[in-house]
Amino acid sequence: MSEGGVTAIPTADAALSREAIAGVDSTGQLADVLALPDHLRDALWRVESAIMEDWDTSAGLVVAGMGGSAIGGALARAALGDHASRPIFVTRAYGLPPWTTPDTMVLCASYSGNTEETLACYESAGALGARRTVVTTGGRLAEMARADGVPLIPLPGGFQPRAAVAYMTVAALEVAAQCGAGPRLTSEIDVAASHTEQLVAEWGPDAPEDSLAKEIARGLLGTTPVVVGAGLTTPIAYRWKTQINENAKQPSFSNELPELDHNEIVGWEGARELGRFSAVFLDDSDAHPRVKERMDLTERLIADNAAASFRLETRGQTAIERVISLVLLGDLVSIYLATLRGIDPGPVTVLDELKAALAER
Ligand code: F6R
Repeated sequence: MSEGGVTAIPTADAALSREAIAGVDSTGQLADVLALPDHLRDALWRVESAIMEDWDTSAGLVVAGMGGSAIGGALARAALGDHASRPIFVTRAYGLPPWTTPDTMVLCASYSGNTEETLACYESAGALGARRTVVTTGGRLAEMARADGVPLIPLPGGFQPRAAVAYMTVAALEVAAQCGAGPRLTSEIDVAASHTEQLVAEWGPDAPEDSLAKEIARGLLGTTPVVVGAGLTTPIAYRWKTQINENAKQPSFSNELPELDHNEIVGWEGARELGRFSAVFLDDSDAHPRVKERMDLTERLIADNAAASFRLETRGQTAIERVISLVLLGDLVSIYLATLRGIDPGPVTVLDELKAALAER
């Protein structure tokens, strides 16, 4: 990819082969995305090996985490949908919701185990006497959990936190079942792993150049993607946005229907004057029929102002299959987009700088 010391920036016509991706992907982010089915299975095994007793918490479940460690809680809640029997809340902050009580399960999720917001939530949960569980690779969180006798789901090291999405989702689902907030989905997760393997073949780097994920990446190149979800796909839209931010290192935003029909749709009128914005609509077979009508109409009404527009649908039968299907697609698109931009998807330097600067204060 480098000629005379100058890195050639590929264009939309560039091949998205394993070789082309390897040319930018210094830390093997592609391999971690392709391993999503294995991560689902390994996560089940790890949760089971953590041997946690069921602990009924009538006030529900709070998942405390940030960024790539929080998204699993949001995806788990989406996958449980109407089957959640108690509140499931994701907090991305320094504190727990004010209604947290000793009858709440607080799952503290931090890949590194050193994220200060999550550590603060762990301590608040302890002070409140709430039941705690921890999912992490180590760090201060693991140290405190061990000292306090708090159950710990151990994660494998060596990933970017955002690449552990399957682990975090399975951990949240299993803890939800353990505390009575939802049904146990263990066998569905296992079946979803096999389903995801088929999609890896269909959308992965060995698939034809006109396969879906590669085409979407080419269509989004040079634009600011606005990713739109609804219901089950709302946290997936947010996952797409954050993966495009962190892997392709460019702006991207997400929103949800029906809310965006009450404000953001008007903003699209000025989109062309300000830049090249593209739209990605994430549909689901089980979406509310009126939401589907809205998606059709919204896509049509903004079409003239969008540099590109895609309407995608979840694949699979069960909710967990459907959630994971579009997470996989978005993760692949973000790595292909990074490749087309000539950018290494792995490092998140500014994020690390910010954490280091904050630690000095
Ligand atoms: C990095 C990433 C970040 C981290 C976040 C919290 O790949 O996705 O969003 O997840 O900064 O750090 P952890 O996950 O270590 O608690």
